[in-house]
Amino acid sequence: MASGLDDVVAAETILSDVDGENGILVIRGHSLDQLARGWTFEEVAHLLLDGWFDDLPDSKMLGTMLGQARATLFARVSPWIAELAKLDIYDAMRAGTALVADGRDLATALQLLAAPAVLTTALLRHRAGQRPIAPDPTESHALDCVTMLGVAQNRVALARALDTYLVTVGDHGLNASTFAARVVASTQAGLVSAVLAGQSALKGPLHGGAPGPIIAMLDAMAAQDDPESWLAGEVSRGERLMGFGHRIYRVRDPRADALKAAVNRIGSGSPRLAFAEKAEQMALKVLREAKPDRVLETNVEFYTAILLEAIGFPPAAFTCVFAVGRVAGWIAHACEQQAHGRLIRPQSRYVGPSVKLAV
Ligand code: CMC
Repeated sequence: MASGLDDVVAAETILSDVDGENGILVIRGHSLDQLARGWTFEEVAHLLLDGWFDDLPDSKMLGTMLGQARATLFARVSPWIAELAKLDIYDAMRAGTALVADGRDLATALQLLAAPAVLTTALLRHRAGQRPIAPDPTESHALDCVTMLGVAQNRVALARALDTYLVTVGDHGLNASTFAARVVASTQAGLVSAVLAGQSALKGPLHGGAPGPIIAMLDAMAAQDDPESWLAGEVSRGERLMGFGHRIYRVRDPRADALKAAVNRIGSGSPRLAFAEKAEQMALKVLREAKPDRVLETNVEFYTAILLEAIGFPPAAFTCVFAVGRVAGWIAHACEQQAHGRLIRPQSRYVGPSVKLAV
């Protein structure tokens, strides 16, 4: 049995391909390098959703409809924000998403695309004792996120960085959350159910929950006289260094470089970025020495943490922002699974006690 299903092919997809040996990510015929050089979230969402809805408009109109969906969703969830905000923010974002009525049409997909952005920003504002800011349907998704968060300065540049992030994490092969979404979609349960499954799988630190702890790790390192020895001590105690290692990549995760470039564009020269670059080199050295037989390179989460912190998101909300981007991939995979897939129903091997026969 392949524990963790390593190397098991469980779906055929036209959506994305992760070439882990060569560090190349392809989204529907476009390399991540191409996409990260200026595509918007709306354009990548359109690329992923193309072919799954008869009434899908062009990407510009999709952006307009997404803006309207943000406004509709904001009105729908506003009465619930105070109650939801009593939960951990990720759980609150997921619970808020569950307010969308299940369905398989474009209107449902648009509500789902809007939900993580609207909920995360409204919840953050509420928790900070501020009134949530209503979406502006005329703005781009990334710019509206930054606006709804309450960022006052440098909004356009920060929104561009956020757009690069959302594009970079939009889809990534059959990762754990996408697989979870496809399993649920294979039962024909509907897009909301599939996305909620994806959100639940994303939450864990081995998948999308890593970037928040990266800030804590950097802060802890900065407080040490000898941060490299401290890191080595962590690894020798069996701790995992967040932001390093990947199931598929045997070289550096290409998303790390796309995000590092985006951070450089907004914060080149910032003390945090300079320290992060040094910390990355220390971590790579420590991991090479501690695990010489295993390739452990920087993954997407390391510079995600630096980028989202620079935009103004608190670490507790980083995984929610991951969901803002990845929701496009979950919806597309759910549609693909619904359209072509059979029920996903693998087998388990029973290793429990055998039946005791009465004599
Ligand atoms: N720090 C220290 N040791 C590590 C790390 C790490 N970040 N990652 C893997 N290892 C070690 C692990 O302890 C094990 O060592 P040993 O063989 O001596 O027991 C060996 O490497 C193999 O570990 P594994 O769990 O079998 O490897 P995996 O392919 O299941 O792990 C991973 C992939 C991402 C879960 C893992 O590298 C990890 O836990 N990284 C830290 C968390 C993190 O950054 N998560 C974000 C992942 S990227 C986002 C995404 O695409 O989902």
